[in-house]
Amino acid sequence: MRYLTIALTKGRLAEKTLALFEKAGITSGGADDKDTRKLVFTNEEMGVRFFMAKGPDVPTYVAYGAADIGIVGRDTILEEGRKLYEVLDLGYGACRMCICGPESARQMLASGDLFRVATKYPNIAKDYFLNRKHQTVEIIKMSGSIELAPIVGLSEVICDIVETGTTLRENGLTVLEEVCKISARVVVNQVSMKMYSDRISQLINGLKEALEA
Ligand code: PRP
Repeated sequence: MRYLTIALTKGRLAEKTLALFEKAGITSGGADDKDTRKLVFTNEEMGVRFFMAKGPDVPTYVAYGAADIGIVGRDTILEEGRKLYEVLDLGYGACRMCICGPESARQMLASGDLFRVATKYPNIAKDYFLNRKHQTVEIIKMSGSIELAPIVGLSEVICDIVETGTTLRENGLTVLEEVCKISARVVVNQVSMKMYSDRISQLINGLKEALEA
């Protein structure tokens, strides 16, 4: 039997995802061992194998068919813009993509003046301002600690993830606009979905039942 290959996002989502698979009766063959440097984990009995990847690489693995299934945040799916089927909202990893900044930037957002947006998500920011708000902005791609940008004067606002709001609060920033809601999703390669539809549907249904239980 051909292995069904599942790409998991390293970090925060991984633990919850592995627990969910376990609850659905699909053990990961040791992927939950935090000390291991192994990359691929096989459940021989079920013909399933798992690997961990950085978030933005998960849609890439799935789109090319190197993984049949991926578990990844909706932020990453939107940012990467790959051709994939998004088949299930897992509910966890819930947060919001927002435009944030100091309260004083609120007026500027509505003014039509050119301003700068620092973000790890240039495609999401571009889509939001250009296509939804019909506003021209300068987008500055950064790789982390985005909240720093408006504090030190790199940009007027940021487009970033807000979970508890603690980072914003502790840095004198606030949510100015909400772009969209985010949570962990299951994505499937479009060819795999046709070729292995029974096995994939069975797996997805198992996850659904485990979520509801
Ligand atoms: C994310 C996000 C915010 C923070 C929001 O950063 O970019 O900085 O979490 O969470 P909160 O609303 O609960 O404070 P992450 O920790 O992923 O690291 P990063 O700054 O490197 O992106």
